[in-house]
Amino acid sequence: MDGNRPLAEQVVVITGASSGLGRRMAHAVSAAGASVVVAARRVERLKDLADDLPSATAVACDVSVDEDRVRLIDTALDRYGRLDGLVNNAGISAPGPASRETVETFRRQLEINLVAPFALAGLAARAMRANPGGGRSIVNIGSIMGLRSTAPMPEAGYVASKAGLHGLTRELASQWGRHGIRVNALAPGFFPSEMTDGLVSGDGSAPDWITQGTALGRLGRPEDLDGALVFLLSASFVTGHTLVVDGGFTTR
Ligand SMILES: NC(=O)c1ccc[n+]([C@@H]2O[C@H](COP(=O)([O-])OP(=O)(O)OC[C@H]3O[C@@H](n4cnc5c(N)ncnc54)[C@H](OP(=O)(O)O)[C@@H]3O)[C@@H](O)[C@H]2O)c1
Repeated sequence: MDGNRPLAEQVVVITGASSGLGRRMAHAVSAAGASVVVAARRVERLKDLADDLPSATAVACDVSVDEDRVRLIDTALDRYGRLDGLVNNAGISAPGPASRETVETFRRQLEINLVAPFALAGLAARAMRANPGGGRSIVNIGSIMGLRSTAPMPEAGYVASKAGLHGLTRELASQWGRHGIRVNALAPGFFPSEMTDGLVSGDGSAPDWITQGTALGRLGRPEDLDGALVFLLSASFVTGHTLVVDGGFTTR
């Protein structure tokens, strides 16, 4: 029942790999030897990424669309014959005061950041259970904003979605442990990306409340997540855990 195939022999689906943290995650998981199936809506970017990696497949996928989610998992199975890992990384945010956030905006964030990971986890779990001896690991990309307020940055829908994702992680880990499926969350602090453009800069500059609030005194660099992600995909007795990678922001 245990998923024990080494990461170097695994097939891992990574959503939201067309930019930012997901793109870097694809490189990190690939560097560990795994085959990766990279998904997002901007497929040309995914094809460029896949061309740079030794074993990768690009799949156009809107994670909020049922048929796209099914096609993503089916493509991994058709191409590689199995699925060992899923990284639910695709996400959106809509910063702004709750008093001005529409229900539609709030709901859309739940749809992409919480409902889609739940649906994909279900599809992936079914595929993993049909693969005796394979890896069985799901990593949900949460956020420190799912753990505490990061005022002065207001984000009701995003915070609710990420807090929900952390709770979902614990619950799926509890329910699916008997199948050998591990479910963990990775909660980054502040990293430059398209999502944080305007708040933090690629050159490492950020508002004082972020740099002074971070014990290590700097923003995250994309490579700062590599070890944590590879660890969660590989750590055979770790499940239901949320691993914070924030340079010590939540220590303060
Ligand atoms: N950057 C940070 O400081 C930070 C901190 C904590 C957590 N996170 C989390 O890390 C994850 C990655 O964020 P990022 O910072 O790398 O942001 P990003 O550069 O904006 O990347 C977001 C990714 O999600 C994909 N995506 C968005 N909507 C999608 C949809 N409907 N279907 C499929 N893919 C979709 C985007 O691809 P397409 O547009 O091509 O579809 C893109 O690849 C998110 O879950 C985010 O909440 C980021």
